[in-house]
Amino acid sequence: MNLKGRSFLTLKDYTPDEIEYLIDLAAKLKEKKKKGILGNSLKGKNIALIFEKPSTRTRCAFTIGCIDEGGHPEYLGRDDIQLGHKESIEDTARVLGRMFDGIEYRGFAHENAEILAKYSGVPVWNGLTDTYHPTQILADFLTLKEQFGKLKGLKLLYAGDGRNNVANSLLIGCTKMGIDITILSPKSLWPEGELVNICKGYAEASGSIIEITQDLNSVKDVDAVYTDVWCSMGEEALAEERIKLLKPYQVNDDLLKKVGKPNTIVLHCLPAVKGNEITHEVFERFSKVIFDEAENRMHTIKAVMVATLGNGQA
Ligand code: CP
Ligand code: NVA
Repeated sequence: MNLKGRSFLTLKDYTPDEIEYLIDLAAKLKEKKKKGILGNSLKGKNIALIFEKPSTRTRCAFTIGCIDEGGHPEYLGRDDIQLGHKESIEDTARVLGRMFDGIEYRGFAHENAEILAKYSGVPVWNGLTDTYHPTQILADFLTLKEQFGKLKGLKLLYAGDGRNNVANSLLIGCTKMGIDITILSPKSLWPEGELVNICKGYAEASGSIIEITQDLNSVKDVDAVYTDVWCSMGEEALAEERIKLLKPYQVNDDLLKKVGKPNTIVLHCLPAVKGNEITHEVFERFSKVIFDEAENRMHTIKAVMVATLGNGQA
């Protein structure tokens, strides 16, 4: 598999085989790291990490993933560079492309990630935009594979804000990889019809089933229940309204009783607002797998960099 030179902006741009390859590469890199073996796939490579929004996992995953493979990461926070304030994104992209070999971008408009990729001439990796969070889904899928030994044929329930970046990317990823996905969410927060239509095409090819519902009683026998914050970064003003709207969709013991099986797991991309989208009890009961998922951000992000900028091997 050769992904050299490619950007990673959304899972829409990657085939199921390419996604599988990235997950398997991450598993191999993880195994090596556990044995204390690091690589040099990014030796001599300089990597810009642009963060217009805060981050714990994504920032640390890119930083450590890069250093583990011999590269140099450079953090560029929102007040550190002129991106979009004093200088156009196109111009910043052209400057960074002259100095860096790869660029991670976390920000608001997804279009900015596309502009960076178009004008920098180097691979750009989406570290989260308002619309998509594709590296998160690679970590989620590595975790599912570790838990169940496969992806195809699993059933995943996503409960909560059904039109945020994580829900959108899960919908794309699941339908590409043959995972049945139910989005349980009030109608006003269902994913955009245009995205659902695109994903219906992926589902047809992979054999997965999409269900989008606000009926808590229509879901059962899922392998994994997934949730995310009710207010994403930038939506803080909506907090009160969202709590009212989403309270019935909290991941709690009642919900798990309704939808789960004995070996059902709970995933959360983190950070979590316990007491909102998930109860303290459920979070703690599944904390082992949730923090595996957080650790897997690093192995999967490392795999993306190794595949698109390095030698593509563990
Ligand atoms: N899950 C995730 O992207 O976490 P951070 O916001 O801490 O990077
Ligand atoms: N939907 C969340 C994801 C955080 C990783 C947000 O955008 O804030």
